[in-house]
Amino acid sequence: MSQNATAESDLAPEAVCWPLRTVRLGRVYEFLSDCASTNDVARSRAAAGAAEGLVIVADSQSAGRGRLGRSWHSPAGENLYLSLLLRPALPAREVAPLTLLAGGALARTLAEAGMVSRLRWPNDLLVPTANGPRKAGGILTEMATSGEGVRHVVLGVGLNVNSQAFPPELAERATSLRLAFGRAIDRARLLVEFLAAFEATYDDFLARGPAAGLVQWRRHADLGRVCRIDQAGTQIEGIALDIDDGGALLVRDDAGRVHRLISGDASFSTTEGAGLAQG
Ligand code: BTN
Repeated sequence: MSQNATAESDLAPEAVCWPLRTVRLGRVYEFLSDCASTNDVARSRAAAGAAEGLVIVADSQSAGRGRLGRSWHSPAGENLYLSLLLRPALPAREVAPLTLLAGGALARTLAEAGMVSRLRWPNDLLVPTANGPRKAGGILTEMATSGEGVRHVVLGVGLNVNSQAFPPELAERATSLRLAFGRAIDRARLLVEFLAAFEATYDDFLARGPAAGLVQWRRHADLGRVCRIDQAGTQIEGIALDIDDGGALLVRDDAGRVHRLISGDASFSTTEGAGLAQG
């Protein structure tokens, strides 16, 4: 446990490590009461030689990050902010599906706890509210490469579990599991279940490729809707048809042309101008 950890937290190692059912993920577990970003902590542990499977969890983040340089609202005592360190022995070009596999594992974890969610490509987890679907979770995957290979992948997951209020700039777009499903949720249990679900998917991915994990993503996906994608400054509007084996989104525009969109370069929205990642 590191120096600024809080022993009494529900996310402290004593609470999380005992029920853990994984072989590798989370077997080295570091809990911080606060940090700037768990992804940054995981990256610096990776640079110092930490092994695959390290899990960093923080009770709060002062500079939590989302995709596309957005911030991730990370108050204390309410939610899950975690980063997994992975070292897949794969060419860098083959790791893109990992984000979707993590989203699929997250949605499955929630479904098994009775909470229906939908995944919006590439990584937004939406839950139902009286005002329509809102974002409750997201995934930020960051990779370090060496030539064509992978040195490490940091897979960061933010899940609004028990927040009951959001800052005004997020209030119309973000929600939490507690607000959506009307009950307080045990975040340590969700963490343990997510690690078990993701490890199974990850092992299958390493042994057989992404197909099975992508089936799981599709099962929870919000496909078949009109979407607007901003890719490298160009707007593409159309129907989100499916994903391919590389995790790219296939969008058919009004002219019937199918575009293949890579997650690293694209933002997906049904509303304009979201400045914070929870939106
Ligand atoms: C997104 O939807 O844009 C991705 C959000 C990812 C947030 C998580 S919280 C834990 C980890 N640490 C970070 O700084 N970001 C990710």
